[in-house]
Parts: sequence; C-alpha cells; structure tokens
Amino acid sequence: MTDRYCVIGNPVAHSRSPAIHARFAAQCHQDLSYEAILAPLDGFAATIGDFAATGGKGANVTLPFKEEAFGLCSRRSARAERAGAVNTLAFGRNEIFGDNTDGAGLVRDIEVNLGFPLAGRRVLLLGAGGAARGVIAPLLERQPAGLSVANRSGDKAETLAGQFSDLATVNAGNFAKTTGRTFDVVINATSASLSGATLPLPAGIFASGSLAYDMMYGKGETPFLALAREQGAARLADGLGMLVEQAAEAFLVWRGVRPDSAQVLAELREQLPA
Ligand code: ATR
Repeated sequence: MTDRYCVIGNPVAHSRSPAIHARFAAQCHQDLSYEAILAPLDGFAATIGDFAATGGKGANVTLPFKEEAFGLCSRRSARAERAGAVNTLAFGRNEIFGDNTDGAGLVRDIEVNLGFPLAGRRVLLLGAGGAARGVIAPLLERQPAGLSVANRSGDKAETLAGQFSDLATVNAGNFAKTTGRTFDVVINATSASLSGATLPLPAGIFASGSLAYDMMYGKGETPFLALAREQGAARLADGLGMLVEQAAEAFLVWRGVRPDSAQVLAELREQLPA
C-alpha cells in the first residue's frame, strides 16, 4: 500500500510542498503520496486524527499550527523542544513523534547551497516570533562569532534571547539598538514581508561581503531584500532554499534517505516567475 503524507495548514492551497515531495519520492524511488490538507482554524487536532486513522504516516505542519502540533506530540526531538514548535509529525502505532526541521533547513541552505559558512560570522536575526525561535539553536550550533536578535518590540527579543542563555549570550533589543554595528549575515524572520512592510533598519548594518537572507519568498524581490540591496548587502537570498531543505530533512526523518535537494531547488527556481 502507498504510504500517505501531507502538509496541513490554513491557508494551504498554494503550498509547494506536494510538488517538492513528489520530486523527492521519484528521485529516491519511494512509493508514497503527499497531499495538501486545509484544516479549520479550530480543527487542527481533529484533522490530524482523521489523517492518522486513515493510513497517514506523517505530516508537515505549517502556519498557523506549528505550536499546536507541538502540544499534540507524545514524543519530540531535542530540536523541536528547543523550537517550541513542530513542523514534522510521524505517526507510529502508539505515538505521535514531532520534529522541527526548519532550522536545519535554513542552516543547510546558507552553508551548502549558498556556500556561506556561519562559523566565526556575526549574525543578526530579525524578528522574535515563532519563525525566529525555531532557528536560534541551529544557528548557534554553527558557532557564529555572535548572534543578535532585533525586533520591532525589543522586549520580545530580550525574552526570546533569554530562553537560549544556557547555549550562548544572545544580544537582543529593538531595531535601533543595532545602530553602529555591522553584521556578516542578516536574516529576516519577521512576517513583515507578508504585508509588504519595510523594516526600519538603521543604515550601515551590512558588513562588506555580507549576506541578506529572507526566510520569506515570493514573486520578485521581497521588501527586506530590496532594502538590503540598497544598503549594500553583497548577496541576497530568499527562503525558497530553506523551504526545500526543511522538506528534505522531513523526508529523511520519514523515509531514512536524503533526497538531492539542490536539484529540486534548481527545478523549482526555474518555474518561479522572477
Ligand atoms: P511567525 O510565527 O511568522 O514568527 P509571529 O510569531 O506572529 O509569526 O511573529 C511575527 C514577527 O514578525 C514578530 O517578530 C513581529 O514583530 P513584533 O513582535 O514587534 O510584533 C514581526 N513583524 C510583523 N509585522 C511587522 C512589521 N510590519 N514590522 C516589523 N516587524 C513585524
């Protein structure tokens, strides 16, 4: 019988995950199906229950359900515990296992696909919501020279940084607090691009040769990447690579094989309008 997987979100119709996993399955000769399922905002647990009861083996979870998915698991990976959110579920006979592959996906995209090692670099993470929280520990594991978190609400950044104080001292504050400092990598984990908003970043934060990375992606350049270009960032990257890499990591969790993610990313990039 074909193993069933899905991505569950709201909205979910425009998800690229079904196309990505179909390509991975073909590459790795795995007999599986992967669909997109819309869960009602108040019906995530019921949707998961139905899917698992009808032969579902695993699910990816996207907005706005990653924290709720965390609460449903009977067992979680250490990286999911750190993230406080789950984007990958695996259904066993007597358990729901939860993992979080977002941070691993981001790090792999930056270091492998973009060829930009994080060790010894000064990293600035913008945002203090769930997306930022999910990537902090994986970024720290790469031994950057330092990690700073800046957010519209500086208090929220400080609270978030405090949750990782056992791993490293993370500088935190509002955007203005980065004035006069420079960074080798600036990662946008805010949802500002969704509304087309531009972040009020002080001028001069991009060091020479720096990378600006937007965890969002879409048609054309995001407002954050447009700003980074104006401010002199040397390299610009959107979050399409992170999307493919978090999917590859989920595929590895479920199937025990790692697909050729770089090839699928290149194919997807060709299909995206510039
Ligand atoms: P997610 O799970 O995507 O991280 P979230 O938890 O709602 O979503 O967090 C959204 C993040 O984007 C927050 O850091 C938020 O800043 P505040 O904490 O100050 O609200 C940030 N954000 C959203 N819209 C923004 C905007 N227009 N300008 C600056 N930051 C914005």
